[in-house]
Amino acid sequence: MREFGETLLITVCFLHLLDRGIGESGTCKPDECLNCLISNASQNSTNDVRENCTIKDFNVTIKSQTNETTVDEGSDVTLTCVHDLPNVSIISFRWEKDNELQGETSETFQIKSIKTKSSKSCLVVCNVDSICGVFNSNITITVNAGSHMVVILVCVGAAAALLMMFAIGMKISLRRGQVQSQARKRQRQQNMENIHSTVNTVTSYY
Ligand SMILES: *[C@@H]1O[C@H](CO)[C@@H](O)[C@H](O)[C@H]1NC(C)=O
Ligand SMILES: *[C@@H]1O[C@H](CO)[C@@H](O)[C@H](O)[C@H]1NC(C)=O
Ligand SMILES: *[C@@H]1O[C@H](CO)[C@@H](O)[C@H](O)[C@H]1NC(C)=O
Ligand SMILES: *[C@@H]1O[C@H](CO)[C@@H](O)[C@H](O)[C@H]1NC(C)=O
Ligand SMILES: *[C@@H]1O[C@H](CO)[C@@H](O)[C@H](O)[C@H]1NC(C)=O
Ligand SMILES: *[C@@H]1O[C@H](CO)[C@@H](O)[C@H](O)[C@H]1NC(C)=O
Repeated sequence: MREFGETLLITVCFLHLLDRGIGESGTCKPDECLNCLISNASQNSTNDVRENCTIKDFNVTIKSQTNETTVDEGSDVTLTCVHDLPNVSIISFRWEKDNELQGETSETFQIKSIKTKSSKSCLVVCNVDSICGVFNSNITITVNAGSHMVVILVCVGAAAALLMMFAIGMKISLRRGQVQSQARKRQRQQNMENIHSTVNTVTSYY
């Protein structure tokens, strides 16, 4: 029974390959992936039509909900993976953002509060994993620096200015301190001299 099944499977695959030309694809793809059976709803004719069948080159595109590919930093972006694959053939969707795999596995992917790292754009890829193969598409979203970036820049500028003022203030007070200590030194020297002269006067009594 098992042997019969295996023989049947091998035969079916072999016929598939014959239909599409041997060596064209190496793997046995299901009927859902053949373009003739998709574009023509009438599944009446089978083997006679399959003669000219090829695996469809499915079309996948990413659509932005707002049709915009330039957004402000911090806004939410909703993307949909538009495809013409038969629903039954789909295993899962895989989304990548800047080459990092995301958790989303449905055809809609939402980026909450979009941010960029070094570059000003963000590359999103949608992969459709299906029994017909993996088909993908990508989209580049340009992100305008948000207003909080300006706030950060202003803060950095203000901090630098404050630091500068502090440094200048320190310098001034240091110099003032020096002047004062010099004055004190001079005073002390004078005091010492006074004592000396007093001692001298005292000793001269003897
Ligand atoms: C689909 O069927 C129509 C006739 O029903 C035929 O003219 C057409 O060529 C077929 N398309 C494909 C892709 O086989
Ligand atoms: C499908 O097959 C039936 C019966 O075999 C036939 O009457 C019908 O015309 C066929 N349809 C097409 C589109 O070939
Ligand atoms: C397959 O394609 C060839 C050449 O393009 C054509 O002559 C033949 O009629 C086609 N067969 C079918 C079943 O459509
Ligand atoms: C792919 O799909 C998109 C959206 O449905 C469409 O605009 C585009 O023309 C299609 N491209 C091809 C080659 O079929
Ligand atoms: C395929 O699935 C999508 C979403 O799950 C649904 O909107 C669509 O109607 C389905 N298409 C068919 C032909 O079943
Ligand atoms: C994005 O898609 C285009 C056109 O489909 C392709 O040429 C390009 O290699 C893709 N880029 C990446 C990074 O996948």
